Amino acid sequence: MDIVNINRLAQTPLKQNIGSRIHNRKDELLSGDLTSEILELLEQRGVLLFPEIDFTDAEQVKFTKMMGQFLPEIDGEEVYNISLDNKVNRKSDYLKGSLYWHIDGTMNKRPIGAALLSSKKLATWGGNTEFCNTYAAYEALDDDTKKKIEYLRVAHSAWTTLFYYDPQPSQAKLEEMMAIGETELPLVWTHTSGRKSLVLGATAHHVIGMDWTESASLLNGLREWATSEPFRYSHEWKLGDAVMWDNTGTMHRAMPYDPDCGRLLHRTKTAGVEPIA
Ligand code: OGA
Ligand code: MN
Repeated sequence: MDIVNINRLAQTPLKQNIGSRIHNRKDELLSGDLTSEILELLEQRGVLLFPEIDFTDAEQVKFTKMMGQFLPEIDGEEVYNISLDNKVNRKSDYLKGSLYWHIDGTMNKRPIGAALLSSKKLATWGGNTEFCNTYAAYEALDDDTKKKIEYLRVAHSAWTTLFYYDPQPSQAKLEEMMAIGETELPLVWTHTSGRKSLVLGATAHHVIGMDWTESASLLNGLREWATSEPFRYSHEWKLGDAVMWDNTGTMHRAMPYDPDCGRLLHRTKTAGVEPIA
C-alpha cells in the first residue's frame, strides 16, 4: 500500500492582519512534511506561534534549518541568548535597541530572513514581544501616500538606535557604533514576489534629500501607522512557546521588563534571500 502523507498544517489566525497559531504536534513540524506550507503561511501572516511547543535547542536548530539557509551568530554560535542581563549575554547593551520597533539586520547586505524565538524563562513583569505586518500596513495606505513615498530612500545606521536608549552617549560609544557603518534603503521594498512592504525601524535616520523636519514627521507618521492596532500583534509569552517571524515583512520590539529578572529567549535565524530593494 502507498504511504499517504496525512500531515496538514492546522492553523487559526491570531489577528485579522497578522499572526497564526499553529496546532500541529512537534513531531509533525519536525518531520519536514509541512515545510513548504509553513513557509507560505509565514509569508502571508508574518508571525507564526507554536504554543508551548517546548523545542530543545537541537530541535529548534533542526526546525530553523528546514526554513532556509541557517545563519549562525558571527562567533559561530547556533543559538543566541536573548537577555538584557550582562552576565548571560555579554552584548546585552546592544539588545537595548530591541525595545524599539526594528527589522533585524538592516545593516547587512541581506536582512535576516526568518527568525525564531523560544521562551526559556518568563519575565516577572512586561516582556511581551510585539510584531507588526509591514506588508499589510503598506497595502492599506491611501493611493496619494503610496505615490508620495514610492521612490523615497532612507539613510539607516546602527548608531541611530543608540540614541533611543542612550541619548547622551560617550563619544567613544558613539564612534564604536558609527564604525558599524551606514546604508541607504528604499522606504518601500518591492520584493521579488511583487509584494511591497514598508522599511522603517530604529535604524532609519532620515529621508535622503528631504527637509529634516518633514523627514522626521514622515518617518514617525509611517511608524505610527505601521505599528497601529490593526497591523500589530503583542505576544504574551508562555514558557515553551516558540514564535517565528518573517523578518522581511514585519517589524518587532520587546516591551520593557526588569533586566535582572532572568527573562530568557533562545533565538535562531535564517539568511534572507534578497536584499532590500
Ligand atoms: C530579537 C528581538 C525581542 C524580544 O530577538 O531580535 O528583537 O522580545 N527580540 O526580546
Ligand atoms: Mn530583533
